[in-house]
Amino acid sequence: MLSWEDYYKDEAPVKREETKKPEPRLSEVTETKTDQEQTVQTEVVTAPESETLVTEDMNSEAMQNLENYTTMKEPTEAELEKVRARMANALEGRVQVGQKAMINSKADLNQLVPFKYKWAWEKYLDGTANHWMPQEINMTADIALWKSDDGLTEDERTIVKRSLGFFSTADSLVANNIVLAVYKHITNPECRQYLLRQAFEEAIHTHAYQYCVESLGMDEGEIFNMYREVPCVEAKAAWGLKYTQALEDPTFETGTPEKDKEFLANLIAYYCVLEGMFFYCGFSQILSMGRRNKMTGVSEQFQYIMRDESMHVNFGIDVINSIINENPSLWDEEMRKRASDMIVEGTQLEIDYARDTMPRGVLGMNAKTMEEYLKYVCNRRLTQINLPEAYPGADNPFPWMSEIMDLRKEKNFFETRVIEYQVGGSLKFDD
Ligand SMILES: [Fe+2]
Ligand SMILES: [Fe+2]
Repeated sequence: MLSWEDYYKDEAPVKREETKKPEPRLSEVTETKTDQEQTVQTEVVTAPESETLVTEDMNSEAMQNLENYTTMKEPTEAELEKVRARMANALEGRVQVGQKAMINSKADLNQLVPFKYKWAWEKYLDGTANHWMPQEINMTADIALWKSDDGLTEDERTIVKRSLGFFSTADSLVANNIVLAVYKHITNPECRQYLLRQAFEEAIHTHAYQYCVESLGMDEGEIFNMYREVPCVEAKAAWGLKYTQALEDPTFETGTPEKDKEFLANLIAYYCVLEGMFFYCGFSQILSMGRRNKMTGVSEQFQYIMRDESMHVNFGIDVINSIINENPSLWDEEMRKRASDMIVEGTQLEIDYARDTMPRGVLGMNAKTMEEYLKYVCNRRLTQINLPEAYPGADNPFPWMSEIMDLRKEKNFFETRVIEYQVGGSLKFDD
């Protein structure tokens, strides 16, 4: 079983004693806690970044606490010395902002504060405020439309099935990448806090797709196996999977330029391409369907998902840029070219997907306008990580997509109108 000793050995710089003294019982510590000690704790949490990790005041106050403690215990001088050493080590182990880093930090990962990346904490709070569940969305009209003989064209039915087929496994890929590949190597507690929230949101998204499939009475085997059986879906999933597999190797560790670049490549693959590009053809197809008052429940599910995904992408971009800022040598010409090639390659896969799912014009869009839109999204992803545009002049033919990103602007969009998003657990709708 993993002990706290093992844990500290891996992740904290706290020096441990050669000879262990039994821990005081909690009741003993509580009894001897003074106002002075509590003041020390508060000061450390809010202390500004400093080169000096342990101040004179902290030392003297800690030693005073030690005197109070030892008076009750009547220790020998040798025992007293051990406790003093332990107290000094503990103070040195307190996390300072300057010790925190996005990767390869040795600071104690169990201490959320003091924050270094306030934006990560704020994104976590925003994510929790945007909580929603798939069952809260009315699917009645969708079920009737899907089961009617002439409600949807064959091309529209293909788009619904392909979208659910791709997304139902894509969000699992993203969740698995967070939990099995990314989380361990992000050495910042506030970013880990957001990753935990994101992982839960990915679970909700997979739940939403499953809920659509079940509600519409679709063939679950067909939908959930598309990522292995339909070439344009399989190509995207396989592209993402190869970046996860590199990091799932149990011997993989960051800490060398080569490994740090591999980790950076994973983040670019998932945040800039998989979540930042591969979702956008399907999102715009389904949301366009909703704009035409078709499959409004599915569209609404996608609307909430896209809102979450937009935040995931922004978080990932901030993480990537922070890693580059803290480790500028990683962002050399080779890595910049690799990143640019990855995003352009992903864009091409998404264009292929658009052509396959839209052999003809449908829902006011076609493969050509979608290609223009995806090139526009590609430019955006590249410039977000300070790379030059790959398709200068590419325009956004679907400006309504940007508007839907902000639900507050779209109060009268669907049959059931969203009037408030941030309700922490339940959504309100106008009837
Ligand atoms: Fe998702
Ligand atoms: Fe996501």
